[in-house]
Amino acid sequence: MQNFTFYNPTKLIFGKGQLDQLKNEVPLYGKKILVVYGGGSIKRNGLYDEVMAQLNEIGAEVFELSGVEPNPRISTVRKGVEICKKEGIDFLLAVGGGSVIDCTKAIAAGAKYDGDAWDLVIKKAFASEALPFGTVLTLAATGSEMNAGSVITNWETNEKHGWGSPVTFPKFSILDPVNTFTVPRDQTVYGIVDMMSHVLEHYFHLEENTDFQDRMCESLLITIMETAPKLLEDLESYEHRAVILYSGTMALNGILNMGYRGDWATHNIEHAVSAVYDIPHGGGLAILFPNWMKHNLHVKPERFKQLAVRVFNVDPADKTDEEAALEGIGKLREFWNSIGAPSRLADYDIDNSKLELMADKATVNGEFGNFTKLNHEDVMAIYKASL
Ligand code: NZQ
Ligand code: ZN
Repeated sequence: MQNFTFYNPTKLIFGKGQLDQLKNEVPLYGKKILVVYGGGSIKRNGLYDEVMAQLNEIGAEVFELSGVEPNPRISTVRKGVEICKKEGIDFLLAVGGGSVIDCTKAIAAGAKYDGDAWDLVIKKAFASEALPFGTVLTLAATGSEMNAGSVITNWETNEKHGWGSPVTFPKFSILDPVNTFTVPRDQTVYGIVDMMSHVLEHYFHLEENTDFQDRMCESLLITIMETAPKLLEDLESYEHRAVILYSGTMALNGILNMGYRGDWATHNIEHAVSAVYDIPHGGGLAILFPNWMKHNLHVKPERFKQLAVRVFNVDPADKTDEEAALEGIGKLREFWNSIGAPSRLADYDIDNSKLELMADKATVNGEFGNFTKLNHEDVMAIYKASL
């Protein structure tokens, strides 16, 4: 295990009716509030009215930024920054999924930065200050509600990058499983794939002596896989929504990966796909992750075998590590197929015409990945296997 410092200042407020906490939390930060939300799901399911009622109760002066896109765009971030600077906003409230939260993080930091917010995303400048913000999460997937990361797309240049800073943790996040009841089936599946992929990204590392961390990762994967089919049978089950919501947060809030650094290459490869084709992040991961695994099996086959045996119940008797590992990867593919996740780039009408372009984008900063380094040729091989 490597040395580590764990830091996560986000107050997590979980459960039915917890939206009531808004009126206690928001006044700690100010009166002029910018509420940030997406394309209208919160208006359709009534959450918008509930949030506004709470903000009215505390006498907040409310400004709004709506229309944050899935795969949020820098153009929308810039609109938010402008409102913050013009109106002297004290606090931002993100009401939505990962895209709304990521956009809010970039607005919060952009509002305290003199240049263009895109500088922060491409790490030309470091966000050393940000306006405080909180979140009301509506979709279980990214973990953005309890981490400092943000992923922003520049649609003019087809670039999508992750960035973050210690100042971009939410002050609080309110997670009521009821607010995820209306998430459609396909988005529910993408969220499940995304959170499982976060655990898998952690899992592939070269550090030794991480038995406890391994078992936490395995237990989370098993729990998600046991719950997902039951949730998909009953999208308004409080119990199953609660398990999945909590799992998504735990998968990427820093708790699973103390003392080692996971791989994260597949996320980079996926971001290059969604930068060019604007596909859902979880859908892209479902296509790419098993192919990343096959491509890199040779690096440490015993690690893949451990996953296969402990999580996918593969019987290792009379099998080489590689054989057991491949069976495990097959079972992951089968599981994702069984819940209706896509399995080929063709499912999004992506053919081989832009593979080079996507591989160029994925390798723009050179070789990447912590479990093993991938170059342009590796990325092309993974894309081709995913067609
Ligand atoms: O825009 P609205 O109308 O709200 O609709 C959204 C959107 O169309 C809808 N939705 C959300 N909550 C709903 C709902 N529909 C009905 N009922 C509800 N309760 O779902 C659609 C997708 O929302 P989005 O926020 O885009 O999904 P997700 O949470 O999966 O976020 C994806 C983004 O997060 C980034 C991805 O790359 C992508 O840009 N990621 C962020 C990470 C982070 N900050 O740590 C890590 C991840 O790996 C990921 O890269
Ligand atoms: Zn992800």
